[in-house]
Amino acid sequence: MDAMVKRWDSEGSTAVPYWVYTDEENYRTEMNRIWYGPHWLYAGLDAEIPEPGSWKTTTLGERPVIVARSQDGTISVVENRCSHRGVKICLARSGKDESFTCPYHQWSYALDGALQGIPFRRGIKGKGGMPKDFDPKEHGLPRLKVEVVNGVIWASFDKETPSFREYIGEKMWVYYTRIFSGRKLRIIGYNRQLVPSNWKLMMENIKDPYHAALLHVFFATFGLFRPDQKNALEMDETGRHACLMSIMPAAGAGENQDIAASLPGFDASLQLADRRLIETVKELTGDETVGGSTIFPSVILLQQVNSMQTRQIVPKGPGSFELMWTHFGFEDDDESMRARRIRHANLFGPAGFVSADDSEVMQMAQEGYAHAPEERSSIMAMGGAGVQSEDHMATESAIRGMYRYYREVMGL
Ligand SMILES: [Fe+2]
Repeated sequence: MDAMVKRWDSEGSTAVPYWVYTDEENYRTEMNRIWYGPHWLYAGLDAEIPEPGSWKTTTLGERPVIVARSQDGTISVVENRCSHRGVKICLARSGKDESFTCPYHQWSYALDGALQGIPFRRGIKGKGGMPKDFDPKEHGLPRLKVEVVNGVIWASFDKETPSFREYIGEKMWVYYTRIFSGRKLRIIGYNRQLVPSNWKLMMENIKDPYHAALLHVFFATFGLFRPDQKNALEMDETGRHACLMSIMPAAGAGENQDIAASLPGFDASLQLADRRLIETVKELTGDETVGGSTIFPSVILLQQVNSMQTRQIVPKGPGSFELMWTHFGFEDDDESMRARRIRHANLFGPAGFVSADDSEVMQMAQEGYAHAPEERSSIMAMGGAGVQSEDHMATESAIRGMYRYYREVMGL
């Protein structure tokens, strides 16, 4: 077969060529320019490592890292790779220790990655050992740039990355601080799933209000999201981040079930056996019942009903990614709120009443692209060809925003 010509002919970002989701070389470039470039990556919540010595492991881009709290409370993110022979040091998901020791030759590191011990550094009985000029200071675990912003730990492989607030921009900052206001967080639990699709499809999904009332029959059936409800879609100046906000209409107000009624699987007679599954207590500023932000490229921060989650994206080659869900609440939640958040979490996660649809459809998209890399999406022009904020859901503006930025950073 002839070598494929990787082209992106059209101007703008209304049509994405399918090799962008399948090509191995393009994926490697994404790793270097996006994931290891001047971007902030989500590394976790500070409530996950509450005490000095607490640590957790995660993966940023494809690289394993350790996120740890030192004795003075400082949080570090270091690569989980011994500077001696490159061995992965921590295998567990989390723990509490005074230092990290590589299993291979017992080199040990402080919680912030500083190399502090090398067995037989001076040799045995005067023989062997490391050279005299070996300087442990130069052989710590590689450290990432870190910012902890209202309870969320952000890390970057690139020392030139601007401050987090500058990175997300003032518009997104408003939505960010709506959930992460500085109120102390409390971890509720985790879900993990492997999705057989390209990582960008996950970003697109939460930038896409168009699909919400059409794909998700659960939303339509129980009135959680309707095409005619009040929506807002905002982006940062680059277009790479976006926030979708929307207000669930009061029950019975301006019912417009025409579209919902046409969805396969829609059944108006269905009733929830337990209404508490969707009964919401207002707790954040504003009337919005849904707020979902995509912080490019690594995470989705989502509030819907009283469920709050981060969804961390861990790419695993062009055709697969792992999605790590962290469900959280606030330290000052009372028991009924904590129980409500757990109930509402049934909508989300790998088997969620709503989000199972998304991972299913992302897999179907990848199957569509896999054998047609030279084709492209027909037209992604809902709401025009531009990249602008909108107050309705019939738009693909935020997806175009991401690809406008993507073409720029990837040099495509
Ligand atoms: Fe969805």
